[in-house]
Amino acid sequence: MFPARRQRRLRENELIRSLVRETRVNIDDLVYPLFVVEGEGIKKEIGALPENYHFSVDMLEEEINELERLGIRHVLLFGVPGRKDSVGSEAYSENGIVQRAVRKIKSLKREIFVMTDICMCQYTDHGHCGILSESGYVKNDETLVYLSKIALSHARAGADMVAPSDMMDGRVQAIRGALDGEGFERVSIMSYSAKYSSAFYGPFRDAAGSAPSFGDRKSYQMDPANTNEALIEAEMDLNEGADIIMVKPALSYLDVIRRMRDNFNAPIAAYNVSGEYTMLKMAVESGVLGQDAIMESVLSIKRAGADIIITYFAKDIAKMLKGEM
Ligand code: PBG
Repeated sequence: MFPARRQRRLRENELIRSLVRETRVNIDDLVYPLFVVEGEGIKKEIGALPENYHFSVDMLEEEINELERLGIRHVLLFGVPGRKDSVGSEAYSENGIVQRAVRKIKSLKREIFVMTDICMCQYTDHGHCGILSESGYVKNDETLVYLSKIALSHARAGADMVAPSDMMDGRVQAIRGALDGEGFERVSIMSYSAKYSSAFYGPFRDAAGSAPSFGDRKSYQMDPANTNEALIEAEMDLNEGADIIMVKPALSYLDVIRRMRDNFNAPIAAYNVSGEYTMLKMAVESGVLGQDAIMESVLSIKRAGADIIITYFAKDIAKMLKGEM
């Protein structure tokens, strides 16, 4: 008898393939990032992120309607402020862009879970993710005070979950303490635990206007060469009270997602970042790759062990799952 096993039997047609399929991307795995800008009547495509837009607060309702139609129920908000200063005060202002956007979305009373990015780089005039010393070093413990203020202001506006992306040490504990201190113990924290100093954030920095004005982020974001450190970061974040840990970027760090999955039982998020998106989107738009490449790449993130995928492809994937694309 040769061969003893015939694996091709399980691949013969879509019905059998579907029966033995191990991994599926579901719409509720996905989080869609939204960029909110000052002004009125604005829905402007972001050049570096094709088919993603800058929205003014008054234009969010239409977008939320579209997300609802597509079945997308989780969003991550990023603000692009009108004014920057050395301490990023627009980031924690009660009437800051994100705070108004959260209140607007919450006032619509839809089935939508609102997460907010907690960072200072879009809001500081120097573009770094914290408070600078005179020599240009990002001061860790001083920055925690500001991150806590930002998180509190988002919680007061009605955010369901806050997501610190700054990579300061001790931030989850600081934010958890600040939230609990004001009675926001029900607001959860998704920590950007293993956030690498990556070249794949290029389009985002254009979208958010957050490129550092000097130097780089290597003194706080992780070295792309390391994975052991990712486990230490995740362990610290969980001990400090993080509800969800994250790996960012996703596609060049699938091994890190897998190590996290094998070591921790907490939900794991992966951020399929702007550069990963634009690279693939442009290849598909130009016809060099077929659109199946989108699902395949997002599937690889899920297969690596991510439970939650933050992706600019969320709407495309929703359309594919609905057979509209
Ligand atoms: C803010 C932040 C960044 C991203 C998410 N939050 C940029 C950065 O750290 O430079 C990147 C997201 C993306 O590239 O899609 N700190």
